[in-house]
Amino acid sequence: MAKKTFYVTTPIYYPSDRLHIGHAYTTVAADTIMRYKAMRGYDTMFLTGSDEHGQKIQRKAEEVGKNPKEYVDEIVETFKSLWKRMGIEYDYFIRTTEERHEKKVQGLFKKLYEKGDISKRKYKRWYCTPCESFWTDRQLADGEEKLCPDCQREVEWVEEESYFFRMSKYADRLLEYIKTNPDFIQPETRRNEMISFIEQGLEDLSVSRTTFDWGIPVPFDERHVIYVWLDALSNYITAIGYETDRQNFEKYWPADLHLVGKDILRFHTIIWPIILMALDLPLPEKVFGHGWLLTKTGKMSKSKGNVVDPNILLDDFGVDPIRYYLLREVAFGTDGTYSTEALIQRINSDLANDLGNLLNRTISMIDKYFGGLIPSPGPEEEVDNDLKQSALEAISRVEENMENLKFTFALEELWNFIRRTNKYIDQTTPWLLAKEESKKERLGTVLYNLAEALRIIASSLKPFMVEAPYLIGQQLGIEGLIREAEWEDLSSWGVVEAGVKVSEARPIFPRIDMEEYFSELEKREKDSGPEQKDRGNKDIKGEKELISIDEFAKMDIRVAEILEAERIEGSNKLLKLQVALGEERRQLVAGIGKHYQPDELPGKKILMIANLEPARIFGVESNGMILAASNEEGDLTLTTIEKDICSGSRVK
Ligand code: ME8
Ligand code: MG
Repeated sequence: MAKKTFYVTTPIYYPSDRLHIGHAYTTVAADTIMRYKAMRGYDTMFLTGSDEHGQKIQRKAEEVGKNPKEYVDEIVETFKSLWKRMGIEYDYFIRTTEERHEKKVQGLFKKLYEKGDISKRKYKRWYCTPCESFWTDRQLADGEEKLCPDCQREVEWVEEESYFFRMSKYADRLLEYIKTNPDFIQPETRRNEMISFIEQGLEDLSVSRTTFDWGIPVPFDERHVIYVWLDALSNYITAIGYETDRQNFEKYWPADLHLVGKDILRFHTIIWPIILMALDLPLPEKVFGHGWLLTKTGKMSKSKGNVVDPNILLDDFGVDPIRYYLLREVAFGTDGTYSTEALIQRINSDLANDLGNLLNRTISMIDKYFGGLIPSPGPEEEVDNDLKQSALEAISRVEENMENLKFTFALEELWNFIRRTNKYIDQTTPWLLAKEESKKERLGTVLYNLAEALRIIASSLKPFMVEAPYLIGQQLGIEGLIREAEWEDLSSWGVVEAGVKVSEARPIFPRIDMEEYFSELEKREKDSGPEQKDRGNKDIKGEKELISIDEFAKMDIRVAEILEAERIEGSNKLLKLQVALGEERRQLVAGIGKHYQPDELPGKKILMIANLEPARIFGVESNGMILAASNEEGDLTLTTIEKDICSGSRVK
C-alpha cells in the first residue's frame, strides 16, 4: 500500500530584505511538524521559497542600483544559508521567478479568463504599495489621512485598467465549505474573523497591474503583469508539478497544511481557496495562522530597527536552543514577545539543567559503577513501572498536541517526563545502592532504565532539535538507535541493549551567564556601532565604507604565535589564547571555538590586530583580536602566513 502523504508549506517570503526571527518562527514550526510526520511514517513534502515579483521588490532593487533579478538572487542566497544553519530540511525551495512557475501561472490566468472568471475593466481605487493591496473608500478608516487597514501606511489614489477575478461568484460556496469543515481554518478565533469577513460580501479582485513591470506578464495582454498574490499563492501547486508532473501533483495535492502568520491568513483562506475552486482543484486540508513574535518595542520591523537577526542568535547560542525556544516559549497561535533574557533562561533551566544534567548524571554513573557499559536490568520494582508508565503517557500526550500543532504543550509534556526521570534518580538513590555489593543488580536496573528513558527522550526530540538527539545518542553509545527511531519505537521499553559502551560525559548545552552575555553584547555593539546593525544590508550591496591610508596606518596588524589555548567555561564558541608577539606575551579571547579545538592551535602563526582597546569578554581579559575569514555557510578559517616569519612582525 502506498504510504500516506503529508504536504506542508510555509509562506514564500519576500526577498526585499534579510529574514528575521519571525520568519524563522514559521519555518521552524513547519520543519518540526514535517519531521514529526516523517517519524510517523508519512511520505512528507515540505515546501518553502521566495516571492520575488512586485513593485516593492522592484523599488528596493532600484534604490540600490540593481536590476530586480540580480537583487533577489543575492538575498535568496541568504535565505538558503539561514535555513541550512537552522536545520530546515525542505524538499523544495520555490522561486517565483522560475520559468516553470511563470509558465504555469500564465496558464492558469488564461484558463480563468477563458472560463469567464477573469475579465478586463477600468477602475479607480486606493492602493497600498507595500502590501500590494487595493482598497475601497469603505474599507479605509475614517479620517483625514488615508491609511491602509493592514499596515497603517498611507495609500495612493490610482486609476488603471485591470483584469478582475470574480470572487463574488464563489463566496457562497466558500462560506459553506468553511462552515462544514471546522478544521480548515485554525485557530478557531481566526476562523470566526474570516467568516464574518466573507459574510460582509466579497468584492471582485483586481488581478493585474500596469503601473510597473516586474512581474509575470498576462499572456495575451503584455501591458499587464499578473497581481503578485495570484502569482505567489499558485506556488503551492506549481512547485509540486501542477500540469507538468501529474503523478507527483496527485500524490501530494491537496496540501495538508499551509502554515502562515495571521497577516496573510485572509489571502490563504479566501483568495486562495477561490482560485482553487475556479480551477476545479480540491482545497487544502488546513490553513493555520499563527500569532506575532513581538519585541519589547512592538512588532518587529526593519524600519523600527528592532528586528532580531537569527544569524546572530545562531552564532551565540547554536541551533537547538533557538529552535527549542521558538517552539516552547509562545503557545502556537497567540502573540508572544521575543526576549534574549527568556531565551537564556530556557537554555539554563530546561536545557542545561533538566536535560543536560539528566544525561550527565546517567553517563557518569554508568561510567563509575559499570566501567562505562550499560548494565542489564534485573527484576522490576514499582518505581520502575511508574517511570515506564510516565514515558508512555508522555509520548501519547506529545502526539495529541502535535496533531493539533500545540508545540508548546508537546514540549511541556516531554519536559515533565524529563523532570520525572530526574526524580527517579532521587527516588532510587543509585549512590547508596553502589555502596553495597548485594545491591549491584538493583543498581544495574536503575541505570538501565535511565538509559532507556534517555533513548525515548532523545528520539522524541528529533522533530524539534537537529543536533542534540544525536549528541545524546553518541554519548550513550546508541546513536544508530536514535537515528533510526520512528515514532512507534517510543512506546516500547527495553530497546537499548545491555553491554553497550557509553562515551565520556560532556555538556551538550553549556550554561550561559546572563550578566556576562549582556556585557559582552553591549561591548560588541559599542565597538561596531550602527554598522553592526546594518551589517546584512552592507554585505548585500557589496559596499563597504572606504577608509584612507592614514586610517589604515592606525591599525597595528602583527604576526602572532599561539602558545596556549583553552575553552572558556559557559561558552562553546570562545577560546582564551596566550600568544607571543616577539618578546611580548598577550592574552586574548577569540570566537573560534566551534571551528578549532584548543589542542590544534599552539604553534600556529596567525595575524592579529595588536592595538585594539582591551576588553573583558565572559569575564576574561582580551588584548587584541585575531583575524579569521568566515562565510554565510558558517565556515571559518584563521588567516595564517605563507612563509615563516618571526612573531611580532608587522603587516603593512
Ligand atoms: O507576506 N512574527 O512575505 P513576508 C511571526 N510574500 N511571524 C512573522 C513575523 C513576526 N513578527 N514576521 C514575519 C509575505 N513573519 C508574502 C507571502 S505566501 C503565498 C506569500 C512570518 O516576507 C509569518 O509567517 O512578509 C508571516 O506570515 C510571513 O513571515 C510574512 O512574510
Ligand atoms: Mg509582510
